[in-house]
Amino acid sequence: FSLRRLNTFGIEASAAAYLRITAAGQLADIAHDASLDGLPRLVLGGGSNIVLTGDFPGLVMHMMIEGIAVIGADADAVYVRAAAGESWAGFVQWTLAQGWGGLENLSLIPGSVGAAPIQNIGAYGAELKDCFHAVSAFDRETGRIFTLDKAACQFGYRDSVFKQALRERAIILDVTFALPKRWQPNIRYADVAHELAARALQAPTPRDISDAVIAIRSRKLPDPAQIGNAGSFFKNPVISAARRDALLLEHPQLVSYAQPDGSIKLAAGWLIDQCGWKGKRLGAAGVYEKQALVLVNCGGATGRDVTQLAAAIAADVQARFGVRLEPEPIFV
Ligand code: EPU
Repeated sequence: FSLRRLNTFGIEASAAAYLRITAAGQLADIAHDASLDGLPRLVLGGGSNIVLTGDFPGLVMHMMIEGIAVIGADADAVYVRAAAGESWAGFVQWTLAQGWGGLENLSLIPGSVGAAPIQNIGAYGAELKDCFHAVSAFDRETGRIFTLDKAACQFGYRDSVFKQALRERAIILDVTFALPKRWQPNIRYADVAHELAARALQAPTPRDISDAVIAIRSRKLPDPAQIGNAGSFFKNPVISAARRDALLLEHPQLVSYAQPDGSIKLAAGWLIDQCGWKGKRLGAAGVYEKQALVLVNCGGATGRDVTQLAAAIAADVQARFGVRLEPEPIFV
């Protein structure tokens, strides 16, 4: 079974077996199916955050459970539940169409609702955790369905319990969001503020912010339907203020952002750009010409091409800045 259309990098790889999951009950059936015993499993959502490094010798479970429902409201929020197989970008637009703000800064992020909590997707000054309420998931060890609240998910920068202790164990079925009744625009990110100013929008609505974010993303990031990619390929490295100060002596232009806890996040795109990688290729994999943090498939790239390019970039950044880049996507 070819996986090429199921990963946004457009890497050609095959799976030994494939199943569309359209109802939670199928997961229990699979667990009891003796003919599938011993086969490794890969849970796949939108395929927008994975690098396929070869053929997968097991069963791909493609999460396609659909449905969006309002499950309640209180003085503070409207609670909306979306099934794992819903498109993230489609779900954001649905909430905006109801007149509810909260998710607008996360407009146009590729991938599915079920994958969104795994890496706590974030963009333009917002993260999924800001409007997250709860998640329900299938436990592959016990066969039971369980729910987790926000604290239990241990959200961090591009991180959660689903990448740590519950990796290989939880299959996310649906996610519930708390959309604030007293909405406030989040325009801390300079790009968004500039875009709104350019449109002369002084009191932006959630829809205005969504439109601005979509415009910025469309300019900076390649559309996976046109050019294969998995968004940012590396996380922005977090270092101490003392190390940032030392780096600044040698590199006065260093792009960095102070974090609430006093640590410093570096713009990995800037580090890679400085090493001269922007727009360059190695084999059939390349660095996007408008955003050095995004690796692209120049046509027919294999997982090996992508891995070799990533390793070459990380080695250069390490040599020049002494900073270790950590990949963002999951390698399969
Ligand atoms: N920069 C360069 N050259 C480049 C790219 C960036 O000099 O080629 C510098 C610029 O100074 C720019 C700064 O880096 O101002 C930051 O760049 P950008 O605003 O594009 O954001 P980013 O830090 O590169 C992060 C997220 C993106 C998210 C944007 C906007 C990570 C790993 N990436 O990128 O998320 O859309 O911020 O909030 O945190 C993703 O995770 O897949 C993703 C696209």
